[in-house]
Amino acid sequence: MAALLGAIIPAQGRKTPKKISRETVTVPSVTPQVIAVKTSHTQLILQVDGRGTLQTLHYGAPAGDPSQFMDFHFGGNHNFGAPTAYPAAGGTFNGQEALHVLYPDGSQNTELYYLGHESAAQGGVITTTIHLKDYVTGLEVDLVYEAHQVEDVILMHSVIRNAGKKPVQLRNFASSSLNLVADNYLLTHFHGGWATEMQMEQTLLTHDTKVLESRRGTQNTQGNNPSFLLTLDRNFSETSGEVVAGALAWSGNFRISFEIDQSDRLNIVSGISPFASSYPLAAGDSFTTPDMVYTWSNEGAGGVSRNLHRWARSYGVWNGGNVNPTLLNSWEGAYFSFTTETLLRMIDDAAEMGLEMFVLDDGWFGLEHPRNDDKAGLGDWEVNINKIPEGIDFVASYAHSKGLKFGIWIESEMVNPDSNLAQEHPDWIVQSPGREIYQSRNQWILDLSNPAVQDFVFGVFDRTVSLSPNIDYIKWDSNRRIMSFGSPYLGQEQDRFFVEYMQGLYKVFARVREKYPDIAIQCCSAGGSRVDYGSLRWFNEFWTSDNTDAISRVRIQYGTSLIYPACAMASHVSAVPNHQTNNVTSLKFRFDVACAGRLGMELQPKSLSAEERAMADRCIKSYKGYRDLVFNGDLYRISSPYDGDYYSLMYVSEDRRRAVLFCYCMRFQNHSIGSHVFRLQGLDPSLRYKITEQNADKSCWWGNGQTFEGAFLCEGGFNPCFREANTSAIFVLESL
Ligand code: DGJ
Repeated sequence: MAALLGAIIPAQGRKTPKKISRETVTVPSVTPQVIAVKTSHTQLILQVDGRGTLQTLHYGAPAGDPSQFMDFHFGGNHNFGAPTAYPAAGGTFNGQEALHVLYPDGSQNTELYYLGHESAAQGGVITTTIHLKDYVTGLEVDLVYEAHQVEDVILMHSVIRNAGKKPVQLRNFASSSLNLVADNYLLTHFHGGWATEMQMEQTLLTHDTKVLESRRGTQNTQGNNPSFLLTLDRNFSETSGEVVAGALAWSGNFRISFEIDQSDRLNIVSGISPFASSYPLAAGDSFTTPDMVYTWSNEGAGGVSRNLHRWARSYGVWNGGNVNPTLLNSWEGAYFSFTTETLLRMIDDAAEMGLEMFVLDDGWFGLEHPRNDDKAGLGDWEVNINKIPEGIDFVASYAHSKGLKFGIWIESEMVNPDSNLAQEHPDWIVQSPGREIYQSRNQWILDLSNPAVQDFVFGVFDRTVSLSPNIDYIKWDSNRRIMSFGSPYLGQEQDRFFVEYMQGLYKVFARVREKYPDIAIQCCSAGGSRVDYGSLRWFNEFWTSDNTDAISRVRIQYGTSLIYPACAMASHVSAVPNHQTNNVTSLKFRFDVACAGRLGMELQPKSLSAEERAMADRCIKSYKGYRDLVFNGDLYRISSPYDGDYYSLMYVSEDRRRAVLFCYCMRFQNHSIGSHVFRLQGLDPSLRYKITEQNADKSCWWGNGQTFEGAFLCEGGFNPCFREANTSAIFVLESL
């Protein structure tokens, strides 16, 4: 028995190991150097050490002459002490990896060494590309840092190239790895489901790993949004302290993981989730990861939000900062039940109220399988002439004749089983052999990894736009996530599915934009289930949530505002009792909440009383007077709906001469106490501002119409009188 224990028993089928050669590949030594990636007010400092390892030393405020970082180390063993800038599984590394590669011989070690780097400037952006290589396998990685100077935003992504002769498998292929040093790290992130998007959650990170992830395939922002804020060394503050914000520009599965190591350093690895996606990379091929958008500010959460918003208006959102029209959307006012007559009368009412566009939502298509509810018709994009015998052009032209633009809804990524498309192209549906294709909202999802499906989805957009020369806007919806994942098109290569599904969708977006740069497009996914900087570069705006209740919207819009800009945040006034929550609030309160984004209405205008109509006219008119601030001003959140009874925010023009202030009383507890004091921000202390309340018969502020110094408003405060929950006020401030 004892002898048996010591004997080697060959496992069945396993080959006798070859004699191993112990020759090691020599990595050429390099001259140590520091590489600084700078924006106007931030610095990312990287170091190449003598072995050629690229390390991250600093991200935050400018820390003087970068050469002082030369030979900087974090203690311990110099070579292994400083955090690796893009850690790969293997070598001396055993933290969380950004890259993990399986090579054809079964080995899984990668060690990346510095080859060289270069920088190029274009406009306000300096791009630094650092080339790394694994000398054993030949695998190459470029780390690309796009430093947006004025906005203080740095985009990071990697390009992984298989320079070997055989295919490799990418098991983890993150966009970036970033290291921060602080005594503690307060993570703010955003969770939500349908109708509860962007709910803020906060947690103090502890040692070990915290992961934000989506494995839904699409509808990636239901659950977690791929974005966060990290407050360093203090409590969450809007106005002061160091904060780093990050947002991944990817609409598919993502993973952002935070790990604090033994030395209390934080490492953040972010990118596409490797879930079911061990991605094959053929010899000579390369894989480009999506951008991770980072910013830093020492002006608290307000500072990083403003940086992100400025960047988004210039780069992150299609035509960001352009004023998108106010609109009436047919959905909550008509749902699937309408005729041409219904639509024309809604258009009349929208025009009378001073709105600027009418959007025909779901329900206009499907002939053999009419879209009279959500059970049929998706996929069959011909006009339902039983509902609209005169056709779309007739309705769109009517809208134009009334001075309105016209928009129309599509959901081209989906198919109802009850449709001609499902019968004609069963192989276009996401599915796994032999398994049930699960339905969600009675629909299946089309396989965007298949180029024929990409052509079809593009064709839906193309054909819809060609229904009338008067189509100005498309609402692009997508109402379910991926289940039973798999692609008949990809055959044996199912590992590619999640990544190529999203790349396929992006190809369609790019084609759409190439052909239709001027059509405004809204990104909708059962409300806000696809609100990320991956999609927004092709979309003018997003549908923030199907929850149109102003009470819920306050939190949803607050969370959204921490990362995404108001110019893209669609916000609609709907009927009461609210269709999602049953809550009843005043029309004024509903307008005051919706006016903090791109204002729209989504109800049957005929249901409004004459008084309410007059109120609507007034709110829409006044909104047009200050909306340039909502679209392009700097956002200051004065108080948070999470902290107390009041929420308040303001948008301030770049020259600080004009501002619009929104105040909401969310809970009223006591008649005997005085008014709540809001301390304004962003104003010029030395300027005098005239303050005019909007949308009200009777002002709720004693100083309405008078002028005050910016210093008084910011330091002394501003105290409108609210005496009930769910009341609100909007004030325009204009310097004299
Ligand atoms: C979900 C969207 O979020 C709604 O606004 C509406 O367009 C419906 N889909 C239509 O089916």
